[in-house]
Amino acid sequence: MTQEQQEQWDSVDDYFTTLLAPADETLTTALRDSDTAGLPRIAVAPNQGKLLHLLAQIQGARRILEIGTLGGYSTIWLARALPTDGRLITLEHNPAHADVARANIARAGLDKIVEIRVGPALDSLTVLGAEHEAHAERAARPEPFDLVFIDADKVNNAHYLEWALELTRPGSLIILDNVVRGGAVTDATSTDPAILGTRSALELIAEHPRLTGTAVQTVGTKGYDGFALARVLA
Ligand code: SAH
Ligand code: DHB
Ligand code: MG
Repeated sequence: MTQEQQEQWDSVDDYFTTLLAPADETLTTALRDSDTAGLPRIAVAPNQGKLLHLLAQIQGARRILEIGTLGGYSTIWLARALPTDGRLITLEHNPAHADVARANIARAGLDKIVEIRVGPALDSLTVLGAEHEAHAERAARPEPFDLVFIDADKVNNAHYLEWALELTRPGSLIILDNVVRGGAVTDATSTDPAILGTRSALELIAEHPRLTGTAVQTVGTKGYDGFALARVLA
């Protein structure tokens, strides 16, 4: 992308965000404290955060799973869509990121709704799977997640998607962030583990009998990227 293009994408994002997804004190502070703590500036853009919020509302979500917390910015957008007795579990392997997120989530008044599980997401997912099984044995219905936001190490995207299928119900929504990466996703000969992981996840959406989905390219403050949406079928 040229600098001129990026400037235009920035100004359109600024316009949309100011109008439709304006920052409040909590969101501003969450980003500022993430910056101060030296976290990478890779949280979703504000208008993307608002999209996650709307999708959770449209979904009527009561339980949300997020993989990749960072400073809790996307977590706040998602958790704000939940009812007061809702639950969001977010998985983060970096304890320093989790500390920043915990403070941001508490300041947002969401600490009763949000639980951060620290450790490699694949380990936390194994634990969540066991909890899910135990619940299924006790009750007629396990408590599935209504929405899963996958936004951690891209190399594991297909594994995360498989776990998401285990932990959801027919009608649940799975969102995969950063599936375009400047167009790199189309490189079938790529040896980049992140690209391979994302391509496997997209192929799984295409092939799996219990998934239907699509992917959309985006431009904006975060450059040229995109996301995939998948709906869990019966
Ligand atoms: N969802 C956040 C951004 C997440 S950035 C937002 O939009 O605000 C990706 C995060 O995933 C980073 O904090 C990184 O530490 C974490 N991560 C990377 N690999 C992981 C793994 N194997 N398990 C859990 N978290 C991981
Ligand atoms: C990266 C990760 C993200 O989740 C994102 O939205 C942008 C960039 C990264 O690892 O570079
Ligand atoms: Mg992301």
